[in-house]
Amino acid sequence: MTSPTPMLPGDSSPLRKQRGGFFTPYEIAEFTAGWALGGRSDARILDPTSGEGVFLLAAAQHLRQAGANPSQLADQLYGVDIHTGSLDETCALLREQDAEATLIKSDFFAQATPAQLEAQVPWVDAVIGNPPFVRYHEHRGETRRRSLAAALAQGVRLSGLASSWAALLVHACAFLKPEGRVAMVLPAELLTVGYAEPIRRWLGERFAAVHLVLFDELQFAEAEEQVVVLVARGSGGCSALALHQVRDATELAGQHLFDSEPVALGRPEDKWTDLLLPLQRRSLFRSITDRAFSRLDAYGTPELGTVTGANAFFTLNEITRAEYNIGQGHLLREVPPGARHIPGTRFTEGHWQQLRADGQRVWMLHPNAAARRRDGLARYLAEGERLLVHEAYKCTIRDPWWRPPAVRAPDLFFTYMSHVTPRLVANETDATIVNSLHGITLNEDAPAITRDALPIAALNSVTMLGAELFGRPYGGGILKMEPREAASLPVPDHNTLTAAWELLEPHRSRLDELVRTGCWETALAEIDRALLIDTIGLSGAEVASMRAAAARLRARRTRTSGDTAS
Ligand SMILES: C[S@@+](CC[C@H](N)C(=O)[O-])C[C@H]1O[C@@H](n2cnc3c(N)ncnc32)[C@H](O)[C@@H]1O
Repeated sequence: MTSPTPMLPGDSSPLRKQRGGFFTPYEIAEFTAGWALGGRSDARILDPTSGEGVFLLAAAQHLRQAGANPSQLADQLYGVDIHTGSLDETCALLREQDAEATLIKSDFFAQATPAQLEAQVPWVDAVIGNPPFVRYHEHRGETRRRSLAAALAQGVRLSGLASSWAALLVHACAFLKPEGRVAMVLPAELLTVGYAEPIRRWLGERFAAVHLVLFDELQFAEAEEQVVVLVARGSGGCSALALHQVRDATELAGQHLFDSEPVALGRPEDKWTDLLLPLQRRSLFRSITDRAFSRLDAYGTPELGTVTGANAFFTLNEITRAEYNIGQGHLLREVPPGARHIPGTRFTEGHWQQLRADGQRVWMLHPNAAARRRDGLARYLAEGERLLVHEAYKCTIRDPWWRPPAVRAPDLFFTYMSHVTPRLVANETDATIVNSLHGITLNEDAPAITRDALPIAALNSVTMLGAELFGRPYGGGILKMEPREAASLPVPDHNTLTAAWELLEPHRSRLDELVRTGCWETALAEIDRALLIDTIGLSGAEVASMRAAAARLRARRTRTSGDTAS
């Protein structure tokens, strides 16, 4: 990890955050500038958001080493930034190195491309830099409008959800000569998020070669972002991209890009996350899932739990229920909000009773239609109105506001926000859920054992790896799976499940206890043996490879230092 960059006078962390000002470690700037210039002394280079000039400084050094004339540098190095203080600092730093650049204070999206008459920046041989990572909710107003228009002018239609880096990359490449090179630090979400799909498509169409360098360790302490370095060159499109993995920026110097075997480019509409796996592991994962796994929705579609609009009001514990004397006809039994209440692989009547005795919120308010009388329920609803619950958005769009559209009790719960991995939990009660869990109602053609068997059998290393690949990292290193992502989770198919359950069922209680008490690694090893080795016929080395791959992605997501479960 790198330490925060020193602040200029008058600058501050919030101001930096607002303009996406996270500054690049010198090793990365050095590598990208060196590669982009390719030893040329006459190349022209642009950093579209040059900040305090680390890329321009590195480029100046490379140009001079290649024999460039120092008095020509201002016509070779171009930097743009909206922040005057950063440009002043760049100017001073360059001067210390006996170098200069053309520095333009401007919103880069307002810069005309060299194809336009009013252009200030000419065609360049290389674009380098680190665009601001400003999320869509902060990337608003005129700048956003201009950025989307600039990308569209290059034929890339971005959605309003796009962070600022996406349009910036596209607009910057409009300054590039056809055979030019681009080397940019981008957020790793380039590989995963839906809104980056047009970028993934465009990269494959625009450039003759596209390479991505991934880092094992976080490179920007301040931004808390995982980054990739994109290097691309030439024009005309490519059918493959090459992937390189390094521990940190210091390892970049040893990379010989373009030497490595290219990896087939996935369809742009797919997430490219399985590119995070080395080729051999990727092939193994695909062959196992093709042979013996199916998508989770082959068993039933994952669905959102009830959106009450105000869980604190609509979910009650027994004490509140008794205090208002609300009859059970106005309530549904539920799993209290939060996956921690279902730590194992099954949820029984006994578990629900225990949660009730513990004072947890085991009731969901669901008054029957003729409810408004002068009883305890009426008092409770009046209390809700006093607390303005009826003005919560979800309550304003239903009538009556006090009756949430409860989902029916599902057969399986799905924990969709996980530290380790998502879990399926067999619902042996009639309890329903709020939206802190997903629910699955099993299809009629699912084997009869599914409710009991799948929660155990899904705790295997291949499914775990699938979750890392199909889910998305969320704040704090949590893995999140929306229903659509959960639907694509690879789980043992019907035949595999049925065969493996014969081996696993005798151990069900013990395995459940292991999971419930947090000893998931022991359970995983046993389930892998029964399912992946004894049922599917994988070798121990193949299982170890899948487990290590899942652990590696988990470590990347949670930013821990290494494999924990390999
Ligand atoms: C991630 S920093 C990168 C700075 C520098 N390239 C580096 O890596 O050290 C992004 C820079 O973009 C600038 N910036 C943000 N939005 C911009 C825009 N619309 N046009 C030009 N510069 C912008 C910020 O002022 C900040 O200096």
